[in-house]
Amino acid sequence: MILVSGNLFLLNTDHTSYAFCVRDNRLLEHLYYGASVPEPREADAFVRSLSHKVSHSKGTTINYRKDSPLTLEDLPTEYASVGKGDFREPAALLVFADGSRSADFVYESYEIPDEIAELEGMPSALAADDEGVSRLIVRLRENQKGVRLDLIYTVFPASDVITRRAVLYNDTEEELQILRLMSTQLDLRSETYKMLTFGGNWGREMERHETVLTHGLHVNHTRTGISSNRNNPFVMIAEQDAGERAGSCFGLNLVYSGNHYEACEVDSFGGLRFVSGIDPEGFCWKLNKGDAFATPEAVMTYSDSGFSGISANMHAFVRRHIIRGPFRDRPRPVLLNSWEASYFHISEFKLLQLAKKAAQAGMELLVMDDGWFKGRNSDNAALGDWVADEKKLPGGIRRLSQKVHGLGLQFGIWVEPEMISEDSDLYRKHPEYAMQIPGREQSLGRNQMILDLTNPAVRKTVIASMRAVFKDNGIDYVKWDMNRLFSDVYSSVLDKERQGECAHRWMLGLYEILDTLMKEFPDILFEGCASGGNRFDLGMLCYFPQIWGSDDTDAIMRTKIQSGYSYGYPLSCVSAHVSDCPNHQTLRTTPLYTRYNVAAFGVLGYEINLCDLRKEELQEIALQVEMYKKWRDVFFAGDFYRVTDKEWMVVSKDKRRAVAMIWNELNVPNDGALMLQCRGLDDEKTYHVCNVPIAHDLKEFGNLVNMVLPVHVRQNSLLHNAIAKFKHMDGETEDYILSGAFLNRAGIELAQSFGGTGYEGQTRLFQDFASRMYYFEETGGHASL
Ligand code: GLA
Repeated sequence: MILVSGNLFLLNTDHTSYAFCVRDNRLLEHLYYGASVPEPREADAFVRSLSHKVSHSKGTTINYRKDSPLTLEDLPTEYASVGKGDFREPAALLVFADGSRSADFVYESYEIPDEIAELEGMPSALAADDEGVSRLIVRLRENQKGVRLDLIYTVFPASDVITRRAVLYNDTEEELQILRLMSTQLDLRSETYKMLTFGGNWGREMERHETVLTHGLHVNHTRTGISSNRNNPFVMIAEQDAGERAGSCFGLNLVYSGNHYEACEVDSFGGLRFVSGIDPEGFCWKLNKGDAFATPEAVMTYSDSGFSGISANMHAFVRRHIIRGPFRDRPRPVLLNSWEASYFHISEFKLLQLAKKAAQAGMELLVMDDGWFKGRNSDNAALGDWVADEKKLPGGIRRLSQKVHGLGLQFGIWVEPEMISEDSDLYRKHPEYAMQIPGREQSLGRNQMILDLTNPAVRKTVIASMRAVFKDNGIDYVKWDMNRLFSDVYSSVLDKERQGECAHRWMLGLYEILDTLMKEFPDILFEGCASGGNRFDLGMLCYFPQIWGSDDTDAIMRTKIQSGYSYGYPLSCVSAHVSDCPNHQTLRTTPLYTRYNVAAFGVLGYEINLCDLRKEELQEIALQVEMYKKWRDVFFAGDFYRVTDKEWMVVSKDKRRAVAMIWNELNVPNDGALMLQCRGLDDEKTYHVCNVPIAHDLKEFGNLVNMVLPVHVRQNSLLHNAIAKFKHMDGETEDYILSGAFLNRAGIELAQSFGGTGYEGQTRLFQDFASRMYYFEETGGHASL
């Protein structure tokens, strides 16, 4: 809801309020962002109590106007520029035709449009009007130069999100340059905050970092060309004592996939300014007379229930307003991906062998990953030549997809359309299509170059080649990959004074391609990928309903990576695969059930050579898939909780079903009791809670078997193997009927864990990397507690 009364603007979501006002001098002053405040009976009283009081000039500050002691240096504002005494991080930095940079945007008018249009040329949040989404446009004008600036606020009440963006219109007679134009600015009054950022590198995406915000500038950004695995654009600003379940916290993100910038500055008066938008480094945009420049959309949410509150808001927002199309609410197929099974060495025969096993295990989609196109036997060649390799696929893509469909599976394909290999027909014909600086040797990444998507001819070629792959080939799913960062940024179709626009124009070019193809192929499920999570952001999620979270398929690493994503993104958009052991990224061996348990909390897939597995492993996988299908809707649409650093839980929207998972890293003997803690269950409901016991192999006890046997058995001897074959060890069972109220508050103490001093049937064998899944179902029965 948007309330405008007198000089007050109050934006309310279900649980938050955001307020600003127009001061006497027509400056926009930020007043408040936090938990809902009561609707003011008198707007004037609201403004008077929160607005900044100024009666005399402060030492060494600049007076904004000659006749007033007001300085901009400590005034909370909505959108700051430079040159008039505000020395903090600016939101706008412009160079006018006379070379001057001072800018002074003042209020002119506002509008609450009836229709909420989507951003043109860039992805933006969808404003489904059934949920009371509303928009406010505040129009500002530069005092002297006359340039116009619109600040656009969109309020999403149910997810407690407010988005912001800015549009600069040059309706003057002279051109100007934009050196920075942020999407949002948030001025907070206290300095007792910390900033949480999520970054890492290939194979270890989304590590959580906490920085105490003391005096000075703290920046989370990328200059990699894409949002990148180095620093994700999602950040949180929280009171220093805020934690998982309590405390004031802001969640901030950008609907953008390129170079991004999120900065917190604690100023000398103890205020905190946050700005975010396109990274200003290297950015310079020439705005001709009559032109406009629109920033990407920034997403902001507030919660006083700590990080979990931010995650809940962000999850709801992403699911409802970012992810779109026919797959938004549709649980995704369980897939088998060929990459870690065969890497580049694929063939129709091998893929069909895999597909047969996948179908037998109950999987639903076979994905042919890299290696299928002409000359693609390693990552040295062929990107750009999107025609099937006849040696590997003699009947082309179509025959293979028909055969896969014949097995009852859907068929998916891998592409990397934004790239070009030097060794490719496309490069031989059109070297100018690659992004490179004339006369300078290119730096390569994964032996490849980036196509210059600022060039309309290149965009046309990419669209045409992808259309040829996607059309009439029986494609149900596409994995859209992107495997290098930017270097030698340059566009051959832009003038030299416009090279600072290249990176952003490139991203706009990609969005145009994606928009065209998504509209043309609405029935294909697209999965984003960039060497795993090198481009995991809200911009991409507007096109791809799911993204490959990391090339790291090691279950233990994945618990950390998926926990990292879960702060800002629902796990229903993070794909996760069960892979082989020793794991290909870490050489770690983890139990097959742990690999499944972790992957089931994302969008489940398998990436393993099923043809090489033992019969028992295939049977176990078939049971996993069967179980997943029964619980998929809970994993997909349920509310997710990081219960502890080694427990996740997901609860269905109607709270009738839930799944919790605990896991172990390195085992400790003689350990304390382990509690199964619960979140989000309905206090009033009664639940049947149980596990599916995990059968153990006697050989897991090694030599200890001799403690109980009358004869001595040598490890791995024939006798040892024979005993292990016939001695079934069913594993501990947990079975309770308890009320939601009891479970939410008290939990369950789980069976005692093996600690080196004894074992019986109910002992929980919880070795290194072991895990357990617990299932909750509402029952009509009576709970004794
Ligand atoms: C990237 C992806 C992988 C796989 C390979 C294929 O690394 O992240 O999943 O598709 O490319 O080359």
